[in-house]
Amino acid sequence: MPNIILPILFISSFLLSSSDASDFCVADLQAPQGPAAYSCKKSELVTVNDFVFSGLREEGNTSNLIKAAVTSAFSAQFPGVNGLGISVARLDLAVSGVVPMHTHPGGSEIIVVVRGTITAGFLSSANKVYYKALRSGDVMVFPQGLLHFQINAGKTTASAYLSFGSPSPGVQVLDFALFANDLPSNIVQATTFLDGVQVKKLKGVLGGTG
Ligand SMILES: *[C@@H]1O[C@H](CO)[C@@H](O)[C@H](O)[C@H]1NC(C)=O
Repeated sequence: MPNIILPILFISSFLLSSSDASDFCVADLQAPQGPAAYSCKKSELVTVNDFVFSGLREEGNTSNLIKAAVTSAFSAQFPGVNGLGISVARLDLAVSGVVPMHTHPGGSEIIVVVRGTITAGFLSSANKVYYKALRSGDVMVFPQGLLHFQINAGKTTASAYLSFGSPSPGVQVLDFALFANDLPSNIVQATTFLDGVQVKKLKGVLGGTG
């Protein structure tokens, strides 16, 4: 008899004490952020709205230098993805819009084109180029950490959804890294092999100083 009762006791006490605390870790955006992820919001405070994000419904504002808008649903905007290893974003490109060469240090990316035509590509760490004109319905992957870009290749607005293998993939845009900084122009010149006039011009366009 005891060898039946014991497992039953064990199971019922497990059920009583079980909580959904280990099912997810909705980001507590008020708590200090660690290097890996946000702290978890108390599970009794979690609601369905933590797992729903409506910020990708609308087209992003492409009235900017690059004529592009990336609307992110990363942990910081969409706390429900914290700790789950995934996130999503929306890309809108006006005619001649471009997302300049950039990397996501934290995760690989998949693009799903839903409108228009986008020329997208990446460079391997050996600087081999992989690029292609993508049509609506096409999907392309950009491996983690590699430089990649997207350009509107058509005569109409283009849109895509981007998903990432990280809830906080991060982003570093190469042009901004090089020219939107306050590193003295002579150092930028030395590290890029560009002439001083060109460096000053690019710093001016992209908002750098020095
Ligand atoms: C889009 O952004 C531009 C530049 O910041 C701004 O002037 C404009 O009002 C914005 N448009 C909308 C619809 O928010």
